[in-house]
Amino acid sequence: MTEIRATDPSSWKTGPITPPLLHHATFMTLDVNAMVEFYELVCGMHPVYYGHDAAWLTNDLANHRIALLKLPGTVPPINKPHSAGLHHTAFEYATFDQWLDNYERLAAIGLEPHICFDHGMTMSMYYADPDGNGVEIQVDNFRDWGMSKEWMWASQEFAADYIGAPFDPAKLVEARRAGLSPDEIHERTYARQYVPEGYVPVLTFPDPWPDRIAADPTLLDGVPAPDAAPEHVLEPQG
Ligand SMILES: [Fe+2]
Repeated sequence: MTEIRATDPSSWKTGPITPPLLHHATFMTLDVNAMVEFYELVCGMHPVYYGHDAAWLTNDLANHRIALLKLPGTVPPINKPHSAGLHHTAFEYATFDQWLDNYERLAAIGLEPHICFDHGMTMSMYYADPDGNGVEIQVDNFRDWGMSKEWMWASQEFAADYIGAPFDPAKLVEARRAGLSPDEIHERTYARQYVPEGYVPVLTFPDPWPDRIAADPTLLDGVPAPDAAPEHVLEPQG
C-alpha cells in the first residue's frame, strides 16, 4: 500500500480540485475474440484498435471504454464468482423502451440476463460475459441524474434495502405491451409484482471456467510467459 508522505498535515489536500472522470475499464482475458464479440453484441461496442492479443472498444465518443488484454502469464481465475475484484460494469439507456427493446433483441437469440433488479433509482438487467464478469444494462427510473442521486441518498427505501426488487423481464415486456407506462411498470416492479417464478436470491454470476477448462484443458496452462519476456510487454520500458 502506498504510504502518504510525512509532510505538514496542514498542507494536505483532501482531493483533487478538479476530479478526473471515470473513462474505461480494462480486463485481462484468455480469449480476446470471444470478449469482443460479446461486448459488440450486448452493448453495441466496436473495436477502435483490434490487435493480435488486445482490443480497445467504445460505443461513444471516447477512444475506448473497455479494453481487453491477453497478457503473457495470464491464468484462469479460481472461484471467479466469489473472488474479490470487479463485480460488474454498467451501461445506461436513455429511455425505458430502448432498454426493453435491447432485452428482447438479446432474448431472441437466447441471451438472457442472469439477474434483474429494480434498485429504485434504476431498473437493471445483469448479463455475464464469457469470462464471468457482470455487465449491467440499466435505465434510470427518474431519467434525471440529479433526481436519481437525491433519491439514492435521501430515500428511506434505499436505506432499508439497497438491492431492491427482483423482476422477470418477460413480465415487463408483457406489461408494456398491455399499455402500462414506464413509471407504472417501475412502481409495480418495485412493489414486487413481477418477481420471477421460483426466485432464489443470488447476486453473483455463474462460473464459466469449470466448463471452459473441461472443454479445453490447455486453458489451465494460461498464456505462455517466456522466461525472458519483460513484465510489461505492451508498454515501452522506461
Ligand atoms: Fe451497478
